[in-house]
Amino acid sequence: MNRRNFIKSSLLVAMTSTLPKVVLAATPSAGFDYELIIAPADVNIVSGGSTPALCFNGGYPAPVIRAKQHQPVRIRVINKLNEPTTIHWHGMRIPIAMDGVPFLSQPPIMPGETFDYEFTPPDAGSFWYHPHMNSVEQLGKGLVGALIVDEAEKPDFDEDLVLCMKNWHIKDDGSFTALTTPQNAFRMGTPGRVMTINGEIHPTYEVPAGGAIRVRLLNVDNTLLYQVNSTDPQAQIIAIDGNPIDQPVALKNHAVGPGMRLDLGVIAPKKVGESVTFKHKGKPMVTIKSVASKLKERRLPRLPLNPIPAPDLNNAETIKFAFEWNANITPIEKDGKVSYNFWTMNRRSWEGMSKGHIPDPLATLERGKTYIFELSNLTQYHHPIHIHGHTFTVLKSNKKAITPFHTDTVLLGQNETVLAALVADNPGRWMYHCHIIEHLKTGFMSFVEVT
Ligand code: C2O
Ligand code: CU
Repeated sequence: MNRRNFIKSSLLVAMTSTLPKVVLAATPSAGFDYELIIAPADVNIVSGGSTPALCFNGGYPAPVIRAKQHQPVRIRVINKLNEPTTIHWHGMRIPIAMDGVPFLSQPPIMPGETFDYEFTPPDAGSFWYHPHMNSVEQLGKGLVGALIVDEAEKPDFDEDLVLCMKNWHIKDDGSFTALTTPQNAFRMGTPGRVMTINGEIHPTYEVPAGGAIRVRLLNVDNTLLYQVNSTDPQAQIIAIDGNPIDQPVALKNHAVGPGMRLDLGVIAPKKVGESVTFKHKGKPMVTIKSVASKLKERRLPRLPLNPIPAPDLNNAETIKFAFEWNANITPIEKDGKVSYNFWTMNRRSWEGMSKGHIPDPLATLERGKTYIFELSNLTQYHHPIHIHGHTFTVLKSNKKAITPFHTDTVLLGQNETVLAALVADNPGRWMYHCHIIEHLKTGFMSFVEVT
């Protein structure tokens, strides 16, 4: 076969097989590794019609940003929306100036403006990025993307799948349904109807038979708690929320709340054509199918642990945080805008922020010191509690046995209290909030200050 024919036939293969959608990043400006242009764009999620989404570089899924542990990455963000935005790098322990929170760490990126982010990831793993303004709409309409930090020494997988889970709030004709209602914001949030992986409904990915496969599941959804299980009893959990765990454990049923991630290690079936399916409860989300390979007797590589500072538990100070309902369900009107306060953190609802007004921190932490956050969920719903710029070491729960692990987002079940330690080693004002987007929008947000 000559080269031209070869290209043609491989194109044909690419078009007819069930390979994932690929979104090409625009060529970045000189000096930048990535350029993200934020603008409205029509995308095809359902066959009945297109969806008027908000996108990075004109499509969904967003470009996967791949950085390297301990190496700087430079990302230029261009705002072509008709409203301000910022980009937050979820789970990154980086300096406050790059955290992407309006007013607290940078001015909002106004329509037509550009903001350059540059940071050096200290930890390897599965992270993600999203705006930190008007989040119900900006995230809900598609501004969510994967940020993968490769290990300084890359573990030996035969395939590395980056899979963003999102239930789109759309009808069969592609148009949006309500992203939020007060009734739902007061409860578990408004679930989207159409469950997707990288914008596709139950896609199948081809993997080399017998290969060691890394499956990264990222919950970029506004609302949904995914209960992940698989048809392969050997599938292993190898990392939680970006952080490798000491001893991989078999995946039975793992809850992945909004903002959270799960890395699985799987040996692909040795027989060509056989497959493994990952499900949310009983519903298939994504399938991997073995295709011919020359691989033999592959094993799952071990992941190196991240350099999370070890908490000094003997000299730690405990701070209690109570998460409750606000008794008021009537809307608040301010500057002609209607909002709601349904949730409180230590009896405070987030009052919003502007150039001229930044609320007091919920707690002030002394730099270098260890704190144990006693996180008490006094409500009947679960809440994934996220902190910026730091990583928790989860120690204990009043509801279940815990093998200590690291995370930036602690999932609290109903009426659960969890002890999570951190070393306050990163100076700045760090957001601290529930990652159910409708909850943070209706009061469940604050910040802590490390001085
Ligand atoms: Cu991914 Cu402040 O959040
Ligand atoms: Cu919540």
